[in-house]
Amino acid sequence: MAIGQPDLTARIGSLILKNPVLTASGTFGYGEEFAALVNLDRLGAVVVKGISLKARSGNPMPRVVETACGMLNAIGLENVGAERFITEKLPFFQKIRTPLVANILGDSVAEYRTLARRLERESLVAALEVNISCPNVKKGGVAFGIDPDTARAVTEAVRKEFTRPVIVKLSPNVTDITVIARAVEAGGADAVSLINTLLGMAIDGETRQPRLANIVGGLSGPAIKPVALRMVWQVARAVRIPVIGIGGITTAADAVEFLLAGATAVQVGTANFFSPRASEEVVDGLAAYLRKQGLESVGELIGGLIL
Ligand SMILES: Cc1cc2nc3c(=O)[nH]c(=O)nc-3n(C[C@H](O)[C@H](O)[C@H](O)COP(=O)(O)O)c2cc1C
Repeated sequence: MAIGQPDLTARIGSLILKNPVLTASGTFGYGEEFAALVNLDRLGAVVVKGISLKARSGNPMPRVVETACGMLNAIGLENVGAERFITEKLPFFQKIRTPLVANILGDSVAEYRTLARRLERESLVAALEVNISCPNVKKGGVAFGIDPDTARAVTEAVRKEFTRPVIVKLSPNVTDITVIARAVEAGGADAVSLINTLLGMAIDGETRQPRLANIVGGLSGPAIKPVALRMVWQVARAVRIPVIGIGGITTAADAVEFLLAGATAVQVGTANFFSPRASEEVVDGLAAYLRKQGLESVGELIGGLIL
């Protein structure tokens, strides 16, 4: 590290990241799509699009709608499936110096477990992020993330099969997110990430129809940042494992808020769509902020909220 450069490293279980800025699943493709726009080597980690055992074609169109300061999506977890992911998408990560976090989803505890077992054999997968929270899929997703016992069962199943860090991604569509966070911590998660999208809808007053073919979808972007921040703050006080903050993060100033609330790292999501270099800019801005504040490491910020 150069003299005068603040230490940005972040630790998630046994994984040490060069900085605490990750991309959010589903907003950064499989990484390679952004290689011409972003210097991927500068990111803490790349979290790729959610992967299921078999390929999924997703929901009918239209499946994305712009809203005030955000967007609604009902993509329905379209993805190439585990085997194509491993043969076609994974090798790209040999070329970059940033770890890959694979985001997984399933319809049953058994599917999560099988995915974890398969990805354990792929050394390029540095960590797993387990999506127990997607609101778009009619079966699976929602049920795992809203019930503490099921959330714990999924975590335990993945934990049994995967020896590297397991991050469980929480749904905000629950009454008390700390209950789910504690359940997955007890199930063996190395970290939690939050939040996934908030369930919402939009209606076209002219046609009287929903704007999304799926009727409801997940709200993301700057509009959800205050909700995400509140939940990160609550969860960081409730668990001992690292918390990864997600929700509307667009600038380094946003990231600083999440770190102060108790997050160890952050993910940049919807911002990638309107500002493809946002994640890299957050890295630069964070370093500049630390220098200006006279801080030597990003760790000094974590949980530094003054009440
Ligand atoms: C188009 C789209 C696709 C997404 N796909 C996934 C996914 O496959 N798996 C997942 O865990 N989260 C998925 N998410 C949720 C994001 O990773 C993130 O948690 C959420 O959008 C909130 O962050 P943001 O406001 O920065 O976008 C998706 C979000 C969007 C907008």
